[in-house]
Amino acid sequence: METVIATQTENKKLIAQLMFNLIVPRPIAWVTTVSKNGVVNLAPFSFYNGITSKPPLIMVSVGKRKDGTPKDTARNIRETGEFVVNLVTEEFLKPMVESGKDFPPEESEIETLNLQTETSLRVKPPRIKGVKAALECTVYKIIEIGDTPMDLVIGRVEVFHFDKELLNTSRGVVGRLGGKRYLIVGEEIIP
Ligand SMILES: Cc1cc2nc3c(=O)[nH]c(=O)nc-3n(C[C@H](O)[C@H](O)[C@H](O)COP(=O)(O)O)c2cc1C
Repeated sequence: METVIATQTENKKLIAQLMFNLIVPRPIAWVTTVSKNGVVNLAPFSFYNGITSKPPLIMVSVGKRKDGTPKDTARNIRETGEFVVNLVTEEFLKPMVESGKDFPPEESEIETLNLQTETSLRVKPPRIKGVKAALECTVYKIIEIGDTPMDLVIGRVEVFHFDKELLNTSRGVVGRLGGKRYLIVGEEIIP
């Protein structure tokens, strides 16, 4: 067993590696937003989780780009106050990974990746057609946190779209592991 005292190491790369490899598996928020100019943006975020169900609040942690500029997702969420979290299942694994690469703000990941969208009920950003669940969210609070700093976006779920089978099984849902590894939910047990 290794021990790292975080406050006593200058090795930022190791700390990052530990955060990515020890907090696993992580759910993935595949987030659609719309820019002021109407360009639909799509990107995955795995520092994501539910917070409470009363009211239904979720959190997504959006960091800065390497050059320190905001990611399109953060900029769009700040400008419009809305986003949609799409659930990633096995059939969307590849486009989800591709959508995490750097796209210029004027280029929509949706078109380049040949994805289709469906209009949302209460927010402007569309949901991805064919996903098994999509959460339409409005911004509840954005907390600037950390050294960079990054945006901890707290969203209030206004509308849940879901395939009823998800209430009984998560089979096929994709999770993030360390490095470039992913998990596809297979066997489920009830201990
Ligand atoms: C599976 C996966 C999970 C990711 N999780 C995060 C995350 O939690 N926070 C973050 O800032 N970036 C995360 N990224 C990187 C962003 O998706 C990436 O920076 C993307 O280009 C941002 O796009 P945007 O500029 O369109 O918002 C993740 C990438 C992948 C593939």
